Amino acid sequence: MEGLGLVDGKFVGLDEYVVPIEDRGHLFGDGVYEAVVVWGSKPFMVVEHMERMFNSAALIRMDLPYTLEELIKFHLQLIEKTGFEEALIYSQFTRGVAPRKHPFPLEVKPRLSMTIRPWVRLDSNLKINGAKAVLLPDERWLKCNIKSLNLLGNVLAKQTATENGCFEAILHRDGYVTEGSSSNVFVVKDSVIYTAPTSNKILAGITRGVILKLAQENNLILKEETFSPDFLLAADEVFLTGTTTEIMPIVSVNNQAIGDGRVGTISKILHEVYMNIIARECHLLP
Ligand SMILES: Cc1ncc(COP(=O)(O)O)c(C=O)c1O
Repeated sequence: MEGLGLVDGKFVGLDEYVVPIEDRGHLFGDGVYEAVVVWGSKPFMVVEHMERMFNSAALIRMDLPYTLEELIKFHLQLIEKTGFEEALIYSQFTRGVAPRKHPFPLEVKPRLSMTIRPWVRLDSNLKINGAKAVLLPDERWLKCNIKSLNLLGNVLAKQTATENGCFEAILHRDGYVTEGSSSNVFVVKDSVIYTAPTSNKILAGITRGVILKLAQENNLILKEETFSPDFLLAADEVFLTGTTTEIMPIVSVNNQAIGDGRVGTISKILHEVYMNIIARECHLLP
């Protein structure tokens, strides 16, 4: 099975036409989304992801028609129905269906659609040897804390990165690095880890949150502080975090080596500890 869909609680094939022509997600990108990775048939950090979905929805004044428990149940149903052990579950709420007008009718019911697909992990060579990134101006809107369906700024930045043979676009605004097009950015300088503080300019990544905790537990110094693109270029290490990105070491930015151009020690340690957490939480360990 290549995957399965679920629309408002009903299973559908991935190739079924299920989007009404006047769905506001379809017309305006009016909605919010989440992505959860499944390991050992367990949806990793699904509660945190669904809590963030409620938070994003509240920030765009959308009342979700399901409870947290129901959303978790849908995840479990998709896993059970497909039997996938490693998968990616994507879920989105659109504001619902209404004639195309910018102001939204308050009585419209948001629509949930979800997909599950087998998860093909990133090439392990990238983790071992490190990946390349490019610095680009952050041209997105100023509510990047909302996991909005509107991703054009991110899409265009990632496309530029890809066309330049890079894994990620690292964005900067007002003289400071914000985040990647689909990841959070960390740098290490003189054994201190830095990442941008949470604000309207970045998404508070779930993986970012795990790294903050892990740094503390492992006696690593981590500062949530803004830093410039020049500071990043002069850093000893750079790494990205994200649900699908996991912990990705970056060894070159704008074709310039970071540190000695090899994966740094702190990036390696955090990657290892993070993968151990997944193994533990998803019962992959004996
Ligand atoms: C813009 C952006 N920042 C950060 C992240 C990382 O967030 P998380 O760790 O919750 O996946 C993502 C993930 O999709 C993202 O799209």
